[in-house]
Amino acid sequence: MLKITGKTEVYGIFGFPVKHSLSPLMQTAAFEALGIDAVYVPFEVNPDNLADAVSGMRAMGIKGVNVTVPLKEKIVPLLDEVDETASFLGAVNTVKNLNGRLIGFNTDGDGFVDSLAEEGVDVKGKTVLLIGAGGSGKSVAYALLKRGAGRIIVANRTVDRAVTLCEKLSRYGSVEPIPLSDVESVLDRADLIVNTTSVGMRDNDSRLFDYNAIPESAVVVDIIYKPFRTELLGVAREKGAKVINGLGMLVHQGARAFKIWTGREAPVDVMKKAVLERL
Ligand code: ATR
Repeated sequence: MLKITGKTEVYGIFGFPVKHSLSPLMQTAAFEALGIDAVYVPFEVNPDNLADAVSGMRAMGIKGVNVTVPLKEKIVPLLDEVDETASFLGAVNTVKNLNGRLIGFNTDGDGFVDSLAEEGVDVKGKTVLLIGAGGSGKSVAYALLKRGAGRIIVANRTVDRAVTLCEKLSRYGSVEPIPLSDVESVLDRADLIVNTTSVGMRDNDSRLFDYNAIPESAVVVDIIYKPFRTELLGVAREKGAKVINGLGMLVHQGARAFKIWTGREAPVDVMKKAVLERL
């Protein structure tokens, strides 16, 4: 049973909406597992009230928050400092309150790479076909390059967005933008195929490309975890490819946030179990 005392520390998540978030369940399980006297609560923050919410965090000594859609970009100028990754991405998913100084981080991309490592997938030197050039694509691509990926082919429906993203990424490694319609011509070069778009979340979504052309040798990753196995992953699995869904990314971005706040290694298995029970 959760015992709240005068010393209990408060953490939470800012989102709009926030009701669907699995983070409260996951972080609460982590605090409990390590016997840390802390709670983690959802805060539904209208974007128009974000500055007030950030001031409130300072005023009330809230120790840390996660930040989710649609506030990740908007919170950046409201903080005292952001780390290198969050600064490059222009987006924050984790805030730590260090004696009144609010510091922003972004653990999404590293959480993604951690989730691959957990599945025995080493990204070093690999050619990655990354689909999507939005905020998620950017964080994943940046982390992949920082952690040694050999080349990233960014495919996007709006090719201009892929071009712009590749321009920003080019100082960190080898990148190549292509239109989504050209994906099938590069499939054979890809060690890793990653979907960072929202396509596959809904039952009637049309396919991003012909999934039957996925080679058996590829590792196929979808950052979606609901549904647990998207159509992309289902077909890729039938083709004999190794598949990984977005659950690991969710858990590992949270594990990194936990470490930033508490300085302690997160109980990853406990966090994963808490989320799995709800999915
Ligand atoms: P996020 O921050 O979650 O990445 P986003 O910035 O809105 O969200 O980006 C969504 C990504 O999914 C984009 O790459 C988008 O492609 P466009 O840049 O062409 O819009 C992609 N996307 C969304 N719906 C899509 C669809 N039906 N087909 C192909 N790509 C789609």
